[in-house]
Amino acid sequence: MNRQLTERIYYTGINDLKKELFENQWPLPYGVTYNSYIIKGDKTALIDTAAESFDEEYLLHIAEFNNGKPVDYLIVNHMEPDHSSLIPVITEKYPNIQIVTNAKAANMIKGYYNITENIKIIKEGESLDLGDGIHLNFYMIPMVHWPETMVTYCPEEKTVFSGDAFGSFGAIELGPTDADARIYLENKEKQIAFNCEKDVPTESNSTFEIFRNEMMRYYSNIVGKYGAMVQRALGKLNGLEIKRICSTHGPVWENEIDKVIDLYDKMSKYETENGVCIVYGSMYGNTEKAAVALADALKKRDIPYALHNLATQGASFAYRDVFKYNVIAAGSPTYNNDIFPPVLNFLHGVTARTIKNHKFVSFGSYTWAGGAVKKMNEMMEAGKLEIISDGNGFAQSFSSDKCDMDALADVIASKLN
Ligand code: FEO
Repeated sequence: MNRQLTERIYYTGINDLKKELFENQWPLPYGVTYNSYIIKGDKTALIDTAAESFDEEYLLHIAEFNNGKPVDYLIVNHMEPDHSSLIPVITEKYPNIQIVTNAKAANMIKGYYNITENIKIIKEGESLDLGDGIHLNFYMIPMVHWPETMVTYCPEEKTVFSGDAFGSFGAIELGPTDADARIYLENKEKQIAFNCEKDVPTESNSTFEIFRNEMMRYYSNIVGKYGAMVQRALGKLNGLEIKRICSTHGPVWENEIDKVIDLYDKMSKYETENGVCIVYGSMYGNTEKAAVALADALKKRDIPYALHNLATQGASFAYRDVFKYNVIAAGSPTYNNDIFPPVLNFLHGVTARTIKNHKFVSFGSYTWAGGAVKKMNEMMEAGKLEIISDGNGFAQSFSSDKCDMDALADVIASKLN
């Protein structure tokens, strides 16, 4: 892989092909990267590090691109341990390195790694001169997605090192930039297990299209709660001339920057398309039959939909489709007079992400007393979703006589834009 981005910027990131779950909860059927970069002036700066267990590979990348010379500065844009875990390794390897970061991050560096020496605290708008005509400017983008997060901008290279903003799941092959980056496809077993093997259009020539679904899943899973803050960050970056986005996850964007910014803009404004994200959990298959019947009814009406079994697939892929479609249809059996736990967990995540501009319907089986449908509607109403159908609970087994999914699909169709 050619890792030189420009005469002065090098990609020193890591492909993680083995990790099962990001943040120990989000599946990685296409892997993930921890991106890091070297910028060379008279002095050399390293931007962010990588996850632990990659220390040897990471140090080799740095040595290769810095010709074995010590690194002068470590810029810490973000302190989540997938990027900060190797700070102690770097400070040990380069004892004279100066950490450059903001006060909140410095406090976290102390708390996580007990490092307090040789830290230069910078504030919004400050600049670091690397010599040879190269500067790094710093802008705070709090809650994208931790409070200490900042971006670094190199005006001479018109390059923004954006932290998690514009990031994506998916390890990268062939090259780091969107000129040739392709997503890692080898873990077929996991793609089949999560029923996501068609999420990546491998025949496309567009790196953006290839990564789009994994970018949406990354945003919805990790950053989705902070749409307002992402909007503020986008506003701040709006005044900068940007030729290159170097995020902490996924490809480096050069050719398809407009598409990436547009997608993040839309997602952070909760702008969606007409369609239905159907989610369900089912103990004995009755609520599942209702979910499939709704999918069939939507298909007959040419209404786009996605169907997710939360009990087997988890919530990760469903959250992506909540950010894609403007209707959520949730199916849950009544369980201990409550919502079935995988569905309850998903709905909690919907409210936690302050989902806006969505319509909601629910359905599900009960045996002796129905409570789940009412509770799902109450929960989503409190979360400010628009409930467009009152009650679609049914006793015991599913049949269209008990719960008419064609009628429900008609209600949904009447509410689409
Ligand atoms: Fe990739 Fe918020 O760390």
